[in-house]
Parts: sequence; C-alpha cells; structure tokens
Amino acid sequence: MFGSFRRKKVETAPSAVSHIAFIMDGNGRWAKRRGLPREAGHRAGAKTFSRIVEHCIALGIPTVTVYAFSTENWRRPKQEVDAIMELLDRYIEDTFSRYADRDVEVVFLGRRDGLSPSLVEKMERLENESRGRKTRVNIALNYGGRDEIVRAVNRLYEEGKLPCDEQTLSAALDTAGRPDPDVVVRTGGDYRTSNFLLWGSAYAEYFFTGTLWPDFTERELDRILTDYAKRHRRFGGL
Ligand code: FPP
Repeated sequence: MFGSFRRKKVETAPSAVSHIAFIMDGNGRWAKRRGLPREAGHRAGAKTFSRIVEHCIALGIPTVTVYAFSTENWRRPKQEVDAIMELLDRYIEDTFSRYADRDVEVVFLGRRDGLSPSLVEKMERLENESRGRKTRVNIALNYGGRDEIVRAVNRLYEEGKLPCDEQTLSAALDTAGRPDPDVVVRTGGDYRTSNFLLWGSAYAEYFFTGTLWPDFTERELDRILTDYAKRHRRFGGL
C-alpha cells in the first residue's frame, strides 16, 4: 500500500532532533475499518514501528521512544493484551538477530512487575547486550508517566536523597541519561498525552495527526520534522 511512495532520501533530520517520541494510536480502528480483529491492527502497527524506527535511525536521531503498552492497557481484553505481548516478544527475538551488529541500544521504560518472567528475562538480556550503543530505542511497556515519577521519588527516598532538585529527579527516572523529547507525535486523532513521558515532555513540541498508526509513513514524519524546524522553542523565555 505504501509502494507508490518514492522514499525521499534524507540523510539528517531537518533540524537537530535529539529525541523523538511516538504515541502509536489508532491500531484498533485501523483493524475495525477493515473488518479485522484488533490484534491485526497491532500487528500492522508493529510493522509501522519497525519502519519508522529505521527511518529515525537513517535521519540520525539519537533517541526514539514509543508507547507500546500503558499501565492502563491491562484493562483491555486478555486476547488483545496477549497479542501485544506476543508482538513485543517477537520484536525482541528479531532484534537479537537483526540488530546484533547494529549500533542500536534498546531500553524498556516502565514497571517490570506484572509482565511474564520469560518476557522480562528477554528484555533484560536485550538491554544488557545492546547497552552503550549509539541510537537508543526506548520502548515504554507497562509504562505510566505518573508511575515513573512515583517510582523515582520512592527510590530517592529509600536512598536518602530527598528533598532533591530537578536534575536529581530526572536522573532517577526510567529515561535517565538521554535528553528530554524535543518532539512528541501522536497519531490517531486524539489530542491528549495519555500519561506519556509527563516529566520529560515539559517543553516538547507536540504534533497530532489523524493518521492511524499503521498508516503513518516516513513521508508524514518528514513533514512533521520540517514543521518542527520552523517552530520557535522559547522554553519559557522570549
Ligand atoms: C494504541 O492503539 C496502541 C496500543 C495500545 C499498542 C501499540 C502496540 C504496537 C504498535 C505493537 C507492538 C509494539 C512494538 C514496539 C513491537 P489502540 O489500540 O488504542 O487503537 P484505537 O484507539 O484505534 O482503538
């Protein structure tokens, strides 16, 4: 379906983007419109994820974060939850083979409790094997922005580091060590943050598109990045 697009060769992002984040919304509706089960939408969404990450790597964006599963997504039917976990499991397996010699580091943001022990074992193995590589792909899984902050504060309390400053709290978050997102893209037509990267996105530029995630293309991302380059970020100043 995307074959008719001729990929524009872009060597670098139009403006220095250190970190881009995606709320991959619209998989369910994409499937419903085709009379398919929601799981088929997530499978299509996983393919889009791979394409878009590849494109970000080609653009030289050092950190890419995606919202794969929120702490609230457990409320979905078991069949759908299982399908998403299965896709993540498959992604990890693929990544071991595909990215073995690539400069890509994978980090999982979010809570490990509640996930299957075998998945957690694979996640940790991938994190350990890919640590320190150039491009970071953060996968927010069993993740909530408020939960991330609460876990960080509790850890700082246990370590006797409270009260603290912003830098200390930032360093205690799952996202520690990488810059805050410059750009957050939400597909699927809704205008909300859905508990995603609440702390880090304080000064992010948001882009909302009605495109459903499985239909999101490299070309649309290029347009977003061109638009981003025109925005004047003031960080509260003039
Ligand atoms: C939101 O769409 C999407 C999700 C809750 C799951 C996202 C998961 C994937 C793209 C696949 C696995 C990811 C990786 C990294 C391999 P929705 O289901 O809420 O869509 P709707 O709003 O149309 O119902």
